[in-house]
Amino acid sequence: MSVLEEAARRRTFAIISHPDAGKSTLTEALALHASAISEAGAVHGKAGRRGVTSDWMEMERQRGISVTSAALQFEYRDAVMNLLDTPGHADFSEDTYRVLSAVDCAVMLLDAAKGLEAQTLKLFEVCRYRRLPVITFVNKWDRPGREALEILDEIESRLGLRPTPVTWPIGVAGDFQGLVDRREPDRVIRFTRTPGGATAVAERPERLEDAGGIAGLSAARDEIELLEGVDAWHDTEDFRFGRSTPVFFGAAVSNVGVRLLLDAIVDTAPAPYARATRTGGERNLEAPFSGLVFKVQANMDPMHRDRVAFVRVCSGVFERGEVLTHSATGRSFTTKYAHAMFGRERTTVERAYPGDIVGLVNAGSMRPGDTLYQKDVVEFPGMPTFAPEHFAAVRVKDAGKSKQFRRGIEQLDAEGVVQVLRSDRRGGQSPVLAAVGPMQFEVVLHRLEHEFSAPGALERLPYRTVRRTNAESRKRLERSHGIEVLERSRDGELLALFADDWRLAFVSRDMPEVTLEPLVAAVE
Ligand code: G4P
Repeated sequence: MSVLEEAARRRTFAIISHPDAGKSTLTEALALHASAISEAGAVHGKAGRRGVTSDWMEMERQRGISVTSAALQFEYRDAVMNLLDTPGHADFSEDTYRVLSAVDCAVMLLDAAKGLEAQTLKLFEVCRYRRLPVITFVNKWDRPGREALEILDEIESRLGLRPTPVTWPIGVAGDFQGLVDRREPDRVIRFTRTPGGATAVAERPERLEDAGGIAGLSAARDEIELLEGVDAWHDTEDFRFGRSTPVFFGAAVSNVGVRLLLDAIVDTAPAPYARATRTGGERNLEAPFSGLVFKVQANMDPMHRDRVAFVRVCSGVFERGEVLTHSATGRSFTTKYAHAMFGRERTTVERAYPGDIVGLVNAGSMRPGDTLYQKDVVEFPGMPTFAPEHFAAVRVKDAGKSKQFRRGIEQLDAEGVVQVLRSDRRGGQSPVLAAVGPMQFEVVLHRLEHEFSAPGALERLPYRTVRRTNAESRKRLERSHGIEVLERSRDGELLALFADDWRLAFVSRDMPEVTLEPLVAAVE
């Protein structure tokens, strides 16, 4: 098969949701449906189960979030699905953004009883910023919840996204009888409950006349008629331009509605396409190999204490062993160790195509946003650094561990776990950490202690707002009380931190010659 044919059958996507909406359950159901994993529970990161994709860190397990990201690959129909794991918490918006920069579509998962939750909204904003098409899956319909029409209203009014239901539930939430696929209105998909309480899914549509009486069917048909009245039909172009979202209903825990969702991903989500480059051009899929580093993670597995760069293939064919060029340093990189990361399990990848994810081991100097390429130089637009809103000075608790501490901070900085700021005034012993959300600090402390044996102590700093500035302005700013200027080690940018907005407004007004530029805002 040619590169174009291989690319055309790839679907690379991520699931965004509020914690507890059922992301792990849905991931598991999707993979099970495609028979990627044999043991139910294998993808689940929660305690007591064998975690496969996302439980590297103890802290993640305790909190039920996944900070580290991995990709799960499975085949479904003729397609190759790449499902990327996103952190389940908005404090990690920056990581989420990076993951979302490596996918072509997102599945927004909602809990039927809760609708759009705070974190879903934030994560959705990241999708919008990335112009990703979004498919909506309303989960837990087997439990009492909101009315389906109410959920649609919420999507429309709060996200400004037109919901176009593809399936419609029969029975209110909590009394789930089946689904109508609106494309085949004279058929129903019914579920049968087995004595153990589980639901045996016969996801094959039955003709209505054979189905007999189903409670809730006439109400469902009335609602479907209402939808037809407002012409809420799925339209692939509107969906791909981020104007509408196809909506599916189901119960991931019983595997209900999952096949229809998978079908939708294959049938309507975009396959990999030519990626825009920094110089304003495009890298065609059949051009020589290029890949985007979207995530760097060290020490994921105590058995393999190394640094892995996750690369999304953007063009050409990846072949293990070939020598690539690293955009940021211009140095060559031999891809001797290339893996598919299936949680703790690593399998060697010999070849990968656009849309696929490869984990490159020993990726010493790589950072998120870097490019790897063959032949013609290519760089993709950089990843924005979000405006931090939380600041803390960190120092090592035990001075005897200073070396490990320094190494740890450097490593976490390189991975982009947190932004590291420095100044002569504070010296090298106590850098300032800047974060979009405070949970990033917890990750830093946890990893300093467990991976680098250098427990750190944090002192929260009272700054709230940050602006980019320059060396000339620095002197003037530092004369004012409540303002501190530090250098971000990642890119050498000078950042001015302000204790409050009032001070920022004051400086902007009274010192017009001082340079103060906003950073990319954290997603509100
Ligand atoms: P997350 O990754 O988004 O945090 O959510 P997760 O899949 O862990 O699911 C959170 C809880 O919701 C789990 O229950 C899970 O079983 C349940 N759940 C997921 N999908 C459905 C569904 O379609 N219907 C119903 N009724 N429940 C669902 P838990 O009590 O936290 O754990 P468990 O011991 O039941 O697995």
